[in-house]
Amino acid sequence: MPVLKNIGQLATCRDKGNQADIYCIESAAIAWDGDTIVWVGEESKLPEQYKSEQEFNAEGKLVIPGLIDCHTHLAFGAWRADEFQMRVLGKSYLEIQQAGGGISSTVEHTRSASEQELVEKCLGHLSKIAKLGVTTIEAKSGYGLELEAELKLLRVYRTLGELQPVSIVPTFLGAHLVPAEYKDKRENYIDLLINEMLPAIAEEGLAEFCDIFVEKGAFSADEARLVIEAADEYELIPKLHVDQLSDGAGAALAAELGAISADHLEHASDEGILLMKEAEVVAVTLPLASMYTFETPLNARRFIDKDVPVAVATDFNPGSAPSFHLPLAMLLACTLNRMTPEESLKGATAYAAQAVDRGSLIGSIQAGKRADFVVIDAPSVNQWIYNFQANQALKVFKEGIVIAEQQ
Ligand code: NIG
Ligand code: FE
Repeated sequence: MPVLKNIGQLATCRDKGNQADIYCIESAAIAWDGDTIVWVGEESKLPEQYKSEQEFNAEGKLVIPGLIDCHTHLAFGAWRADEFQMRVLGKSYLEIQQAGGGISSTVEHTRSASEQELVEKCLGHLSKIAKLGVTTIEAKSGYGLELEAELKLLRVYRTLGELQPVSIVPTFLGAHLVPAEYKDKRENYIDLLINEMLPAIAEEGLAEFCDIFVEKGAFSADEARLVIEAADEYELIPKLHVDQLSDGAGAALAAELGAISADHLEHASDEGILLMKEAEVVAVTLPLASMYTFETPLNARRFIDKDVPVAVATDFNPGSAPSFHLPLAMLLACTLNRMTPEESLKGATAYAAQAVDRGSLIGSIQAGKRADFVVIDAPSVNQWIYNFQANQALKVFKEGIVIAEQQ
């Protein structure tokens, strides 16, 4: 059985305790069999049966669970660098959207891109994403907003799962925006979502989650209720984009609808946070989006102090968060959201796994879980996050196999 030895600090991120509990073991080793971890502990206690022929050496470095990016819009037709410049000069995200830019502009480019083109673009991103230590990524549709284009995006994700090693978790986000052609008949678009898109997606088994952008200018709480009720029939698990640009009582809505996660939440109310706690909804912070849109970042202490788990993700998309760098998002979770480096790591591993309903499989280094872990060129979690560098992932193991490495 293969073994990884000489680990200086092993941040197991065991799936218990609080946000700050990452259960580090010093001078550690990990043994695995095929794709599954069989033993974790102090190297001096490694049982005889695991002293194997295939040994990897972590050279005294930090080892963490494979990172999980639990919120991205991975496949899109074109970048929107012009909007970045406009925002720097003072235009707001909503003003740009109302002037025909924003999500609508990406929809246009995504509709006209072929499935093959989108696959190739995503493969380019994913090879870089894997090198950063990310072993699982959630990916949303939502730039098609018509039946065939939404199916195309979700088929792209299915193909990507077959072509490269990073696990892809597919989410249907047909309720991202009402497309221009339905502007004056939005109830017909809701009908299309419920009566055509959801059944077709379920028929092909293309999505696990159903997400909705609940915001002024996007979808109302009542529309979200209708779509989630329909998605329930196909056993799609609800996720929500809420309270990003204003307090739309989205945190409470996520609790009411039994969402597995509520994402963004910059403007969530105290009452909503308590309801999330009761309903066991994971909060997902997306600090890159706050930074790029010049919006007030979420204060993670408001959630952590009430025992609501906070996952950290990139929100990678061409508009509000044009970066797939999860370790950068983890740094910003510290500087903008006031999470400690340990809390940020738990947010991008164990709690991110919960946000994609894979808590029993991935997100921590313990016997029985998938052998997904990363050797990081730093002596500790705190030092790694604080002394930010382009990429400190030295060796990335996914299901027991090295999928990326650098010297
Ligand atoms: O999560 N908030 C809505 N959707 C995306 C932005 C998508 C875009 O700007 O293209 C987000 O920030
Ligand atoms: Fe998003």
